[in-house]
Amino acid sequence: MADSKKTAYIAGLGMAVPPKVVTNDDFSKFLDTTDEWITQMTGIKERRYIDENTATSDLATEAARKALASAGVDPGEIDIIIIATATPDTLFPTTACLVQHAIGAKNAFAYDVAAACSGFIFALVQALQFIVAGTVETALVIGAETLTTVADMTDRNTCVLFGDGAGAVVVKGCDPPRGIIDHYLRCDGSLSEYIKLPGGGSRRPPSHETVNERLHYIKMQGRKVYVNAVKEMGDAVVTVLERQGLTGDDLDLLFPHQANIRIIQAVAERAGLPMEKVYVNIQKYGNTSAASIPLALAEAAEEGRLKEGMLIAMVAFGSGFTWGSALMRW
Ligand code: ACO
Repeated sequence: MADSKKTAYIAGLGMAVPPKVVTNDDFSKFLDTTDEWITQMTGIKERRYIDENTATSDLATEAARKALASAGVDPGEIDIIIIATATPDTLFPTTACLVQHAIGAKNAFAYDVAAACSGFIFALVQALQFIVAGTVETALVIGAETLTTVADMTDRNTCVLFGDGAGAVVVKGCDPPRGIIDHYLRCDGSLSEYIKLPGGGSRRPPSHETVNERLHYIKMQGRKVYVNAVKEMGDAVVTVLERQGLTGDDLDLLFPHQANIRIIQAVAERAGLPMEKVYVNIQKYGNTSAASIPLALAEAAEEGRLKEGMLIAMVAFGSGFTWGSALMRW
């Protein structure tokens, strides 16, 4: 059993996106939509799509291998693997178990976390709890999604938003000031109707009827999601800052869930942050749900924008509704 640590930090990062690029103009070929509408209303220019031979665990495995290499950690050193996903390869076994086998993490236990687009922050906070409790030394936390497999290509309100990808982080214990300083997790199940995947679960098991009714696709009331996301994400950032006696001025970089550029801009404004302090890559990947924050972290690190000693925050919002934030000294 490891010594108890006061907090945890991210020791390595990796990302994976499939090679196939789908542009806004590609949608205009079969839907009543335009590049102009999608760009203006969402900030998305293109997104990545898996092919029929790829599943969520494949992207997660690639991201995990890169994260382990960047942390200089051997797969045998991992104690726990937590994968945040709403699009697992199968309902069971979990995607985390498939990745555990694929990377040869023979000493790890593994499971998935389902909190939709907020899943990565929920999973990261879980890893923190194990590390602080002293029961785990090294955690692998992954956000991995293939939302294009549940996007209805006849529904212009939703299908243009989503893309596939994965981001992985290696999490280890440390003493402050480095590491996770504060976190804030919430949900409101009374608003569960506004984004959902109605078919395929125990309420509506798969049948010819559920398929005919297109219930195995995302259903979303975009406006409701938008309004709640702006409020709760903004408040979540301010909450962790204020609890630490900080303001937006103290923050070096914000990593918001990449759902819509207008949501991101409104959250930045609420948190008192200029957009230069907000990491945005939605134009390249669209909304990759639980993968979006670790993908952004990995890309920012690769670009040299995320540097040791920086004060960063992550904030997400998703189906449930779920939302949360984490404040961290990199
Ligand atoms: N192309 C052209 N027109 C479109 C498109 C499209 N792709 N999609 C919608 N429209 C039309 C609508 O039909 C509507 O037309 P109408 O006025 O004739 O009815 C018009 O554009 C305005 O639609 P709204 O939905 O009112 O537009 P809004 O400003 O809300 O923007 C959007 C829509 C971009 C979806 C926005 O609501 C949004 O981003 N919401 C948040 C979505 C989100 O974050 N989802 C993530 C959750 S996913 C998860 O948790 C797994």
